[in-house]
Amino acid sequence: MDIRIAANEDERRAAIAVAHAANGVRSPLATYTALRLAISLRRRARWWVLETGGGIVASLLDYPIVFGLGAQRMHGFGLGSVATHPGHRHQGLASRLCTTVADARATEGADHGLLFSAVAPAFYERLGYRVVEAVQWRVSEPASVQGPRAELLPIDPVAELGMLAETYEHGHAGLFRPRDEGGWLRTLEDNPVDTWFAVPGGYLRLNDADGELEIAELFAEDPSAVVRAVCDLAAVLGRTVVSWVDVGEPDGVPRVAESRDKTLPMVRNLPPEGARFWGADYF
Ligand SMILES: CC(C)(COP(=O)(O)OP(=O)(O)OC[C@H]1O[C@@H](n2cnc3c(N)ncnc32)[C@H](O)[C@@H]1OP(=O)(O)O)[C@@H](O)C(=O)NCCC(=O)NCCS
Repeated sequence: MDIRIAANEDERRAAIAVAHAANGVRSPLATYTALRLAISLRRRARWWVLETGGGIVASLLDYPIVFGLGAQRMHGFGLGSVATHPGHRHQGLASRLCTTVADARATEGADHGLLFSAVAPAFYERLGYRVVEAVQWRVSEPASVQGPRAELLPIDPVAELGMLAETYEHGHAGLFRPRDEGGWLRTLEDNPVDTWFAVPGGYLRLNDADGELEIAELFAEDPSAVVRAVCDLAAVLGRTVVSWVDVGEPDGVPRVAESRDKTLPMVRNLPPEGARFWGADYF
């Protein structure tokens, strides 16, 4: 068995073919592969493949990332797209691959890890990861929401970068993914359809896609009042409101908690208590 970083475009295509089979994707392999090769985020990853006598049968992506805890900065990695071909499962291949990548990162002094698990956490717990407490919720009938609304002031995020960065930096109590100026500009470039609003005491980031208006980031004096204002927008747009942002139990907002079993954050060699990772933190 050989575990290595994909040496060329053919091996990257083979890695994507493993994920295509592993996830039972219905779309044609060619379009699935082309889409994945064009995603700018993936160009920042190291693509790992595991080859046996049967060829490349397991793969994952390893993104270099930095963690923040207060003013402290720690180098680490994010694991994504972990996959083993269905014909080669239950032989410890994915475990070996994950361990090899973590060991490789450790020799570079970057042994802090994050992933968003799509399988029951026991698999990654065995590899040293711990679950981060995380919420996910939905408001299906935003028109019925009651209570005071905050004012949402549309902003140009580049012009307001100073305010956004300052609010973000001070808005986290536990572990988070800090953004320097380059990180902010990349976030804006990678997510050109997100919209940004100044709100009392902070800012709001929205993503409108697939019939859902997502509160992607929120820092505010009164987060509940901002959620109600977002519900007004969603009611006009005909969207449901979804979010990973923990806003407690806002009065007058009939929310439903949902499972995070496809996106459960887990960390390795880092404190999960109070950690906060946003949807946009992938990766
Ligand atoms: C999850 C996955 C990568 C495991 O690959 P693998 O090479 O069989 O993994 P290993 O042999 O190292 O470990 C197998 C263990 O993983 C766990 N596991 C595998 N699939 C699982 C699932 N869907 N839910 C929960 N646990 C699972 C089991 O504990 C299993 O133990 P077992 O072999 O005793 O039954 C593979 O099943 C896969 O590609 N799944 C589809 C893609 C996916 O969901 N990837 C995870 C992204 S976070």
